[in-house]
Amino acid sequence: QAANIGVVGLAVMGSNLARNLASREGNTVAVFNRTHAKTEELVAEHPEAGFVSTASYEEFAAALQKPRTAIIMVKAGGPTDAVIDALVEVFEPGDIIVDGGNSLFTDTIRREKAVRETGINYVGMGVSGGEEGALLGPSLMPGGSDESWITLGPILRSIAAIAEGEPCVTHVGHDGAGHFVKMVHNGIEYADMQLIAEAYDLIRRGTGKSPAEIAEVFAEWNKGELESYLIEITAEVLRQVDAATGQPLVDVILDQAGAKGTGAWTVQTALSLGTPVSGIAEATFARSLSSHPEQREISRDLPGPTEGFTAQDPDAFIEQVRLALYASKIVAYSQGFDEIRAGAAEYDWNIDLGKIAAIWRGGCIIRARFLNRITDAYSETPDLPVLLTAPFFVDVFTRAQDAWREIVATSAKVGIPAPAFSSSLAYYDGLRAERLPAALIQGQRDFFGAHTYKRIDKPGTFHTLWSGDRTEIEAEDTH
Ligand code: 6PG
Repeated sequence: QAANIGVVGLAVMGSNLARNLASREGNTVAVFNRTHAKTEELVAEHPEAGFVSTASYEEFAAALQKPRTAIIMVKAGGPTDAVIDALVEVFEPGDIIVDGGNSLFTDTIRREKAVRETGINYVGMGVSGGEEGALLGPSLMPGGSDESWITLGPILRSIAAIAEGEPCVTHVGHDGAGHFVKMVHNGIEYADMQLIAEAYDLIRRGTGKSPAEIAEVFAEWNKGELESYLIEITAEVLRQVDAATGQPLVDVILDQAGAKGTGAWTVQTALSLGTPVSGIAEATFARSLSSHPEQREISRDLPGPTEGFTAQDPDAFIEQVRLALYASKIVAYSQGFDEIRAGAAEYDWNIDLGKIAAIWRGGCIIRARFLNRITDAYSETPDLPVLLTAPFFVDVFTRAQDAWREIVATSAKVGIPAPAFSSSLAYYDGLRAERLPAALIQGQRDFFGAHTYKRIDKPGTFHTLWSGDRTEIEAEDTH
């Protein structure tokens, strides 16, 4: 029988998404994989899904009702391009190709433009929630045309996670908007994970608690304002005991963090947009630092503090770490939303920031209790220039800032690296500053390159004749 939706690429994410689709009333799902054995395996393992198995792109296209709708779940980059090329051959104008991989948004913009010329709709869609999310309900961030949303909307709403009665999906904006937002989601994910890791490290080194004991701390935190998926799974990971050695698993895992690139893209894009996502950048660089064993090996004997570190009052110290984590986390989200705002302005996407926070409340990796507060902040002030200045967050900073400063100072003093904690605090203080030493930088730029400066007391652009008599002249603005 005719399928109303198809999935191409049946690795874990693809097959789980296909099973999720098949489990919803009214869907019949056609499946295709380059290696047909994989398709047969999935179909055999899940007879309840009623999959329509197809062995070629032609068969796949023939199995689909019009407008044909296919979700591609293959590796970003070359493999995605190859599948798109093949689908364009067998699809017709009005059909819809959805890329559900972690594609770079500029690739999505390019592909959307090329595919649109054939009359086929192209949608780049962020999918978050890992394997379990794909199966049970992910957070979905589709871009693409309004036309494709008419067909796709109901299907996606049926498979998305539900948060407070609402499916975690929205039409983010045109062409690359969905993948842009997913990219920033991952940047925030990197920051959040790094902050949690720093909190764990500080507690472990400062109190001597075991991973299993620290698991209890995180489990406790997860009952309060820090409640989130990442805090929850942190407790699970810390509790895990290695079967082979009997050691805590975290102690036998090699301490070199991997990365598939989305964090780096978030930072690269932010640099081009001129958006300071310093917490996300620190988190990304912290992974890079961890992954250079040769540099770490040769640096091991660099001088550090001579005294060891033990927190005087462990419970009070843990509470300070909790507050520092919360404050830094707000900075990471605020920076991420800042980047989405800047991206939307640059690429002409009409992105509803409050709605983005709302669809991140369920299904995705960074789902957290306080996302509701972000939605509230943007519904009160849609053009809020800096998210962390919303009243709710100001209240948190009022409560947390002393502890935050204390933790950053302690970490520096005792030599425990806390790059994301400290860069977040520096960002916060940078924003707060009435005057920044940027004035001096402008003076230096003018000195060596006649780059000019503006004055606080009158309009215009100025240059000091540094190598002449050092009088000031009006100049052309050179930035
Ligand atoms: C998600 C995740 C996911 C991402 C992994 C791996 O939202 O489900 O962001 O899409 O691929 O987190 O990312 P790294 O390998 O770069 O850590």
